[in-house]
Amino acid sequence: MNTSARRTLVVVILLGMLLSGCQSTGFIPLTGDPALPTPHTPPQAGTPGTLRYLASQHGFLIGAAVDAKALQSDPKYAQTLSREFSVVVPENVMKFAEIHPSRQTYNFTAADQLVNFASANGMLVRGHTLLWYREDPAWVKSGNYNKTQLEQILHDHIATVVGRYKGRIFAWDVVNEALDDNGNLRDNVWLRGIGPQYIDMAFTWAHQADPNALLFYNDYNGEGMSAKSNAIYNLVKGLRERGVPIGGVGLQMHVTVTNHPSADDLKANIERLAGLGLVVHITELEVRLPQPANAISLEAQAQVYKDVIDTCLAEVKACQALVMWGLSDKYSSVPRIYPGFGSALILDPSFDPKPAYNALKDALSGK
Ligand code: XIL
Repeated sequence: MNTSARRTLVVVILLGMLLSGCQSTGFIPLTGDPALPTPHTPPQAGTPGTLRYLASQHGFLIGAAVDAKALQSDPKYAQTLSREFSVVVPENVMKFAEIHPSRQTYNFTAADQLVNFASANGMLVRGHTLLWYREDPAWVKSGNYNKTQLEQILHDHIATVVGRYKGRIFAWDVVNEALDDNGNLRDNVWLRGIGPQYIDMAFTWAHQADPNALLFYNDYNGEGMSAKSNAIYNLVKGLRERGVPIGGVGLQMHVTVTNHPSADDLKANIERLAGLGLVVHITELEVRLPQPANAISLEAQAQVYKDVIDTCLAEVKACQALVMWGLSDKYSSVPRIYPGFGSALILDPSFDPKPAYNALKDALSGK
């Protein structure tokens, strides 16, 4: 193709994008390679000796999911969070049903508090999550909306939430757990009403709302090499091939000491995702222990944490963040979600370090 033909083609594509962008429900497939966002400003390194400081020496991010109520009510929680971590993730308050409780109502109070806390402390925010079948609100599920209306609702939700935090949330879990345990697309209101392309739409609209945010597909049980991780790989490979602006895959990692991926499998999975041009974040690491925990189980837990961070640091170009699903066992959701288990995090209920904390510190110090 000669230069003037190429120029004409570019003009035609740009015009097309501009025109379709005028319709708020119009799905605009991006062609070509999705522009990866410009690198975000790194978080502040913090105090020497802390996890966040040691992580910063590797260009690595270390984070925790945040219980919004604890952040407001427990000064020790807030202090420990900003001392040890460079990334925060809202555990619940940005989920659809919480932040968008009725079609015309958004509730940003707790989410704003978290984002403001992060900027006051030189930390980054991972947004979690725009779409998760368990947080599809009742008003959407029981609204008998047709396809056009559902697309409009999805578009408005994403444009409003991502748009509000534009430039302040560096990474978003756009779609969470869209695959079931057999690796098939999970039934939900969006799949039923819109079809599988709801996933492409969600990423496209998130990218339009904040072109510099890194956009993730996030799921569980797909950390090592397995049928589930193959399904995740195939899903995100398809997104990449269609030019959908996905930038990374989140590996949740809710594991136990007896059931977790091997370091070799984790490495192989990270490498194949990196081969698609994607980055990886470990997004929800917790290693739950049968109760009561004891010195032996706490040591075994520490080893799992250490293997995960060692694997990430060895692949740090691809594996850029390790986020735990909480900071202290005091506020962990594990005892509620997995009865009989607990003690899953790296600080005890008094915020004192457990062997797992020391293991992360050793790994970050090259020991
Ligand atoms: C969990 C929270 O920790 C709980 O407090 C809440 O009751 C349910 O959700 N995968 C995810 C997280 O992506 O959002 C979930 O968080 C845990 C599983």
